[in-house]
Order: sequence, then C-alpha cells, then structure tokens
Amino acid sequence: MLSNSILRAIQDRRSIYKFKSKEIEHEKIDAIIEAARWAPSWINTQPWHIILIKNEETKHQLSKVVGTLVGIKAAHYTRIAIEEAPIIFIITVDTKKDPYHCIEDGVAATQNMALASHSLGLASYWIGVFDISGETGSIEEQIKKLLNIPGEHRVISILPVGIADMKSVKKDRKETSEFIYYEKFGKK
Ligand SMILES: Cc1cc2nc3c(=O)[nH]c(=O)nc-3n(C[C@H](O)[C@H](O)[C@H](O)COP(=O)(O)O)c2cc1C
Repeated sequence: MLSNSILRAIQDRRSIYKFKSKEIEHEKIDAIIEAARWAPSWINTQPWHIILIKNEETKHQLSKVVGTLVGIKAAHYTRIAIEEAPIIFIITVDTKKDPYHCIEDGVAATQNMALASHSLGLASYWIGVFDISGETGSIEEQIKKLLNIPGEHRVISILPVGIADMKSVKKDRKETSEFIYYEKFGKK
C-alpha cells in the first residue's frame, strides 16, 4: 500500500479525550486555524467561523450542555475532553453565505483542523453538535445561546485540542471491499 505523510496522518489520527493541562504554543494554534482556511467549500464561499475558547468557566458551561448528548458513554467522554483540553474550537457556518452546502464546508474545515492538530503532535476529539432535526432546546441551540452565535449560523462541531494524556485506541474500520462498488451501487 502506498504511504506518505498525509496518508499516515489520516490513518494515525485518533479521537483523544484526556489531555495534559499544558498550554499550546501560539504558532500551533495559528497553524490549525490556517488549515481550516484552506478547506474546500461550495464555490469557495468559506462560510466558516471559529470560536477559540480557553476560559475555564466557559468550558465548564459548555461541558454541562454537551454532557446531555445522547449516549451516556459518549457524553462522559465529551465532558472530560471539554474540561481537560487547554483549547476548544467551535466551528460554525453561516447559512446565508452558503445555503446549499454549508454543512459539508464546516465538516471539511473541522477535518482539516483535526488532521493539522495531529500533524503537530497534538490530539483532538471531534464532538458533533449539528442538530439535523432543528428542534428548539437542542444542544446546538443551547450552545448558540451560551456563545452568542447569531441565528443564521449552524454549529457544526466542537473540537477540543491538546497534548494527549492517554494511549490512543486504534478503532476498527470496515474493509474497503465492504463499501466500494464499481460503476453501479452494489456492483462488486
Ligand atoms: C461528526 C462526528 C461527530 C462525533 N460526535 C461525537 C460525540 O458526540 N461523542 C463522542 O464521544 N465522539 C464523537 N465523535 C468521535 C467518534 O466517536 C470517533 O471519531 C469514532 O469513534 C472513530 O474513532 P477515531 O476518531 O479514534 O478514529 C464524533 C465524530 C464525528 C466525525
């Protein structure tokens, strides 16, 4: 199998929820934000906005909201990640800038940031908060209120970043033969 630094970063990145309290250098934070900047987006609309959170009280409030996520185990990990990470990125997208593909644009920016963090020796824990149902009182809505995010924005993800304080666990992946078809869906 062919390999290079990008392919290795894609394979080696893992979700990490325990972080050392050590601060992250400014140059690294800048490089992670720069990686978001170069994500692809629909006709280059670049609808993303990123909030960088370091304040302990804000983190605590955020972790309380996210702690109500579906699935007790996932909620537990997400709370730890938000409380322990020295920096948290919140990735939002402006639905007016790109009404068609803003969700994918925000996801592309998030993935760039996760991979950039990994390439700099840092770890991250992607927490999905985009609420497809659009229901009132959702976690996404509560986060918008907490962080003064304007109404026309959607919250795509929360990305705690820091130095890992746990061993990464390599999760299983499907074999490619289980999802690749040739010429038509289902054709092996
Ligand atoms: C869109 C998205 C949303 C996610 N949301 C959560 C979450 O709410 N809680 C959680 O524990 N992990 C969340 N994760 C992390 C996944 O659980 C993790 O990526 C997956 O188990 C594969 O593990 P790996 O990232 O270590 O390869 C999310 C990942 C993505 C891409």
